[in-house]
Amino acid sequence: MPSDKTIILVTGANSGIGYETVIALSNASPSFHILLGSRSLEKGQQALKNMQETYSSSLKASISVLQIDVTDEKSIQAAKDEIETQFAKLDVLINNAGIIVYEPMDTLSALRQTFEANVFGQVIVTEAVEPLLKKSLKPYLIYVSSGQGSVTTRLDPNNEHRHIRGDPYRMSKSALNMLAACHRYNYAEWGCKVLAFNPGWCVSNLTGEKGREMRIKMGARDPKEPAKALADIVQGKRDDDIEKNGMVDVDGGVLPW
Ligand SMILES: NC(=O)c1ccc[n+]([C@@H]2O[C@H](COP(=O)([O-])OP(=O)(O)OC[C@H]3O[C@@H](n4cnc5c(N)ncnc54)[C@H](OP(=O)(O)O)[C@@H]3O)[C@@H](O)[C@H]2O)c1
Repeated sequence: MPSDKTIILVTGANSGIGYETVIALSNASPSFHILLGSRSLEKGQQALKNMQETYSSSLKASISVLQIDVTDEKSIQAAKDEIETQFAKLDVLINNAGIIVYEPMDTLSALRQTFEANVFGQVIVTEAVEPLLKKSLKPYLIYVSSGQGSVTTRLDPNNEHRHIRGDPYRMSKSALNMLAACHRYNYAEWGCKVLAFNPGWCVSNLTGEKGREMRIKMGARDPKEPAKALADIVQGKRDDDIEKNGMVDVDGGVLPW
């Protein structure tokens, strides 16, 4: 018998935007159960402990840690089996886990690593849990993408971030956007709302400790902002934007693909 709660899986939730999203979702409703996805069980448990110690009184929803490495098929299958056994359905999948390869390496290795985590992983996670999403009365499938993946703004002379390279990362997020577009089309018949989401430039661990410090100095956003926007999406407050043709943006509306 499927759980009465709204079951939400956030991948890569031991850090950054994913971590804050678990908190924002948990603040939003006691009817949610949030699966804090983490490739390291230890890091996931530590993250849960941290949020419970910091926000104990405001966390309304229940949260549990789920080991899931999006580049490891066995880990994905085990995670899917655990969700099925415990809840018999999944209502929301937030495909948030992602990387930027910032250490110097040859182009092919950088492309392979980036696409494994940011694209192939998202495809196989989604395919694995698709039967569980189909059991939800109101399923959402969210891909955390990036403005860096927008082909339209890449060549826009008014885009102040055009100088930023990171070609493998940009390419991976463009591919993720196409995946979201394909799934939006393919999954429409069973009522699944599918979107790619732009969280904006945030303070996180995406580019390591030095990158984190640089982001703080340069005025990057608090990851609580995209976390709040993601919680709004899950609560149906951005359904109009999801229908539009573009990436659902943290600040409202959509960005061009
Ligand atoms: N921060 C930004 O400015 C920004 C802007 C646009 C888009 N985004 C996107 O936002 C998402 C979250 O990134 P973030 O900024 O919050 O960075 P973050 O703090 O580094 O968080 C990334 C999360 O993904 C996890 N992860 C990486 N590879 C994984 C794998 N193979 N399996 C499972 N989990 C994995 C990381 O786990 P570990 O801790 O074990 O490494 C971490 O929990 C990413 O998709 C990123 O591309 C971020």
